[in-house]
Amino acid sequence: MKHLLKLSDLSREDILSILNLADQLKFERNNGIIKKYLEGKKLGMIFQKASTRTRVSFEAGIFELGGYGLFLSSNDLQIGRGEPVQDTARVLSRYLDGIMIRTFAQKEVEDLAKYGSIPVINGLTDYAHPCQVLADLMTIREYKGSFKGLKMAFIGDGNNMANSLAVGAIKLEMSYTIACPKGYEPDKGISEWAAANGDFKITESVEEALEGADVIYTDVWASMGMEKEKNEREHAFVGYQVNEKNIKAAKDDVMVMHCLPAHRGEEITEGVFEAHAKEIFDEAENRLHAQKAVMVKLLK
Ligand code: CP
Ligand code: NVA
Repeated sequence: MKHLLKLSDLSREDILSILNLADQLKFERNNGIIKKYLEGKKLGMIFQKASTRTRVSFEAGIFELGGYGLFLSSNDLQIGRGEPVQDTARVLSRYLDGIMIRTFAQKEVEDLAKYGSIPVINGLTDYAHPCQVLADLMTIREYKGSFKGLKMAFIGDGNNMANSLAVGAIKLEMSYTIACPKGYEPDKGISEWAAANGDFKITESVEEALEGADVIYTDVWASMGMEKEKNEREHAFVGYQVNEKNIKAAKDDVMVMHCLPAHRGEEITEGVFEAHAKEIFDEAENRLHAQKAVMVKLLK
């Protein structure tokens, strides 16, 4: 494993090995065991979109590991003024030990890895959000003990989260059903791969997706960069909400997950969100542990 560009690049064993290390790092942190696995290492963190969790968990994480994180806003970098990613990659590779990038096009992340000579971590693109899904899988295992045979229901837009969760779920032998309106399905390539490799379904019926679900996942209807489509999407997604009524179709011990930020009253009701706040904020915390594991694997 040289980079973390998308989950489909990782084997099932790679994923489990990251999750095991993440569990270990969480245990060490909770028990005051301090080990500077990345003493003196420098991580550049390029942000072309807003972030709370990704920014803070990476910066806190590299610090806890004994390294240093540089927050690089695209507003301040020459990349924001048109300097090609190929050149940025080669320059940053001379100064740093790793790069985390949050941007729009997946190709930009792939190019950074292709032209640079240091590990690249995808901190979210329009296509994928692998760091989030590693934290999600870690949280699911904490609550459910294992993955095999669990039913995950994703309600909402076939976006970056829906894509990466499909890959993660299928690799770990969970079943995955996404309920979304016509025209808002996940990536075609991922859907074809998932259908060929596991129990994967796309439906327009929220009820069908929620029936017997062990894990419910939802995310915003309009992702970052889709602000112009906000009104149109609010119409298209009417009915694609996780609420007190439809959640009854799921198992009694269902987990509800959300990558955050959440829009209460849109994809999830306030009541369901607060009733499941424990798992949602454990999930947010696990970003820190999962990403520390990724950094140790890639930068050490
Ligand atoms: N879930 C997530 O990636 O949050 P941020 O956008 O705050 O980083
Ligand atoms: N789908 C959301 C996820 C945010 C963490 C977005 O891309 O804005």
